[in-house]
Amino acid sequence: MSDSRAPADSQSTLVRWMGVTDANTAGFVHGGTVMRLVDEVAGLAAIKHSRRRVVTAAVDRMTFLHPVHVGELLHLSAMVNAAWRTSMEVGVRVESEDPFTGEVRHTNSAYLSMVALDESGRPEVVPALAPDTPQERRRSEEAQVRRRNRLAEREEILATRGD
Ligand SMILES: CC(C)(COP(=O)(O)OP(=O)(O)OC[C@H]1O[C@@H](n2cnc3c(N)ncnc32)[C@H](O)[C@@H]1OP(=O)(O)O)[C@@H](O)C(=O)NCCC(=O)NCCS
Repeated sequence: MSDSRAPADSQSTLVRWMGVTDANTAGFVHGGTVMRLVDEVAGLAAIKHSRRRVVTAAVDRMTFLHPVHVGELLHLSAMVNAAWRTSMEVGVRVESEDPFTGEVRHTNSAYLSMVALDESGRPEVVPALAPDTPQERRRSEEAQVRRRNRLAEREEILATRGD
């Protein structure tokens, strides 16, 4: 696949209204509920970039900045930050909105590695990413740093095991 795509082409959003089945008895939404939605919106962004079926290879980072409460709207937005051979890094930002007051809070950020698969379930080459704006270029450069660190960590661990 030779054509390149802009990060904005993969822009994906999900909005969910948090109910009692999403929360614990204190009324706080489970971290796992948010993680599931993060995985879903990241998958959507990776599909839009690659136009292929994708799997989550890793959740590289997920931060929880503020709790989410029952009755709040969760807005999740995702975009491909970088694309390599068959894998992509997707960045996700989560915000909560209180529909009564209009208060919006940044609750979570996450980075996921998604891999495109062919019809036989083997990793498939994805289109290159062509970041255009300064913000898109910054995100792409930061994704390269995370990938380098991830690979260096893996090498170091394998070396300590003597594999
Ligand atoms: C992800 C998966 C397809 C990789 O398969 P593999 O045989 O290791 O394939 P490869 O070694 O060719 O790697 C393919 C790509 O995945 C990336 N990858 C593999 N493991 C990774 C990890 N732990 N973290 C980040 N990227 C990873 C590789 O870097 C490579 O990317 P690149 O082609 O852009 O350089 C395979 O491990 C898998 O199917 N895992 C299960 C996924 C799953 O069930 N997810 C939950 C449900 S969606």
